[in-house]
Amino acid sequence: MGHRNAGYVPALGRDILTPLYDPLVRLTTRESTFKGRLLDEAGISESARILDVGCGTGTLLLLLRRRSKSLLAIGLDGDMNVLAIARSKAGRRREKIALAQAFCFDMPFPECAFDRVFSSLMLHHLTRAEKIRTLQEIFRVLRPGGEMYVADWSRPHNLLMRILAFSVRLGDSFARTADNLKGHLPALFRDAGFEGVAELTRFATLYGTLALYKARKPLMAAAQQQARIVGSTLHERIGSELQHDIVDCAPRSARATEGPPPVDG
Ligand SMILES: C[S@@+](CC[C@H](N)C(=O)[O-])C[C@H]1O[C@@H](n2cnc3c(N)ncnc32)[C@H](O)[C@@H]1O
Repeated sequence: MGHRNAGYVPALGRDILTPLYDPLVRLTTRESTFKGRLLDEAGISESARILDVGCGTGTLLLLLRRRSKSLLAIGLDGDMNVLAIARSKAGRRREKIALAQAFCFDMPFPECAFDRVFSSLMLHHLTRAEKIRTLQEIFRVLRPGGEMYVADWSRPHNLLMRILAFSVRLGDSFARTADNLKGHLPALFRDAGFEGVAELTRFATLYGTLALYKARKPLMAAAQQQARIVGSTLHERIGSELQHDIVDCAPRSARATEGPPPVDG
């Protein structure tokens, strides 16, 4: 199927190349270094609920599993073929990983469901409009105070990186990669409502500059989100589901010390 109709772009641009993804990325992108660093930066607690958007072959989820068996982590990807590779890779390592086939701009998760959301080498596959919708979705499913960690192609930081980035532009389309390579990702994060947006570090790779970013959903989003849930869906949802969402939307610290907030009506 052509990727324009599929709703996603396969890991290496074409379905037939997907089985080559793991060896290629391992050999050419300093994969374990940058993914390990991304996880280090996220400071994940044992009880964290984690989502990997565009999880591909599941490498990041398996790195997480190696750090803790008790984490609640799920990977989302639009491509069934790449999820099959993730599943069999986990099986070979006798690990269980949770996977969901869905599009990043329409996620099947409730508001405030996750403490950390990761996205590695995925945003550059999306058009500007898809990036915006995806960031809005990540914002929605993160709890207030929750954090997003992104690894993706970025503005080349020297002439060599600019030359090497040409292969990414050619392979993944000039239009889809433009925001990455012009250094616009942080602005898109802020536009989606994130605060504390920061570039953590960058790596020189054979495909150009790879940057790691961090962004946080403001704690204040809790009140706004609760008001929206109560206001907009009271008539649409049954009581138990509503109560569940409101409890999940409370900031972690509030949840630990208080009971569930009262539900009006
Ligand atoms: C280059 S791969 C990166 C995989 C993995 N995160 C990694 O770092 O190795 C990009 C992944 O994003 C997925 N993807 C692209 N567009 C998507 C969309 N609209 N919804 C969900 N997944 C998508 C692809 O199927 C692919 O597995």
